[in-house]
Amino acid sequence: MKFPNSTDIKNDLKKNAYTNIPLSIPEGAIQNAVDAFMTFAKSPEHVKENYKLPTKKGANKCDEVGYKHYGTYNNKPSDIGWFQYNRKLLPELTAQHRSHTEKEMVEKMGIVYEHACVMFSKLVDSLEKEFPGLRKKLYDEDSDIPRFSMLRFLRYGTKGAEPDKYLGFTPHYDSGSCTISLAESGPGLLLGHERRSVAPPVREEGHALMFCGLYFYKLTSDDFAPSLHLVDPHANKGVDDDVARWAVIFFVDHDEFKKCDVCEKIHW
Ligand SMILES: [Fe+2]
Repeated sequence: MKFPNSTDIKNDLKKNAYTNIPLSIPEGAIQNAVDAFMTFAKSPEHVKENYKLPTKKGANKCDEVGYKHYGTYNNKPSDIGWFQYNRKLLPELTAQHRSHTEKEMVEKMGIVYEHACVMFSKLVDSLEKEFPGLRKKLYDEDSDIPRFSMLRFLRYGTKGAEPDKYLGFTPHYDSGSCTISLAESGPGLLLGHERRSVAPPVREEGHALMFCGLYFYKLTSDDFAPSLHLVDPHANKGVDDDVARWAVIFFVDHDEFKKCDVCEKIHW
């Protein structure tokens, strides 16, 4: 499948605030990892606690791996949770394994991450022609993974969260450089340039949706303005009795922006 060139990507972003890029991940790999995470999410709290890895002060968001609850519902933790993976911190994740099932889950997530990195690399190749030096800004020398990148598996429980207690339900910009939505269980994502114009994106078959975080334009040009987006909490059809929705998202960031004021206020 042909990868879009820089001009096509810019035109799409200008028009729609997102672009479709070929999803080159082996069939079934995403679903396998999602299924493993859904099983893990049903684990007793003490099992999940193993993967609540401490956040290091000043760490980039991409370097926060493991499991996390998000949002509240009636002042209690919501049933929205995510698991974040990156290769750099794989040893930290591996150290938490208590069972074969958990080991398998992390391995399955790793397969998706590795392929997402290849997809992102193709995106960089496409843009590098117009923005020479982009790769150097995002990658360490001789590395095939972006210096700051992370794969997030998001699970929305059927109980959900109060919209004002969960950032994803309110219009926001991602604080990273680049966001790639690899897969979602169903509609719900709304994207646009401004609040009035957010709309469901059209995902072409076999494609992922790429859109810009707050600072990708600083690495490229003003054509890569951040995309406003949210998840409509009422659009979820429901995966099963416990799960309303899931999404698998790949994030890339750049260390230069981690201490930026706006980043501190707008969290993923
Ligand atoms: Fe977001």
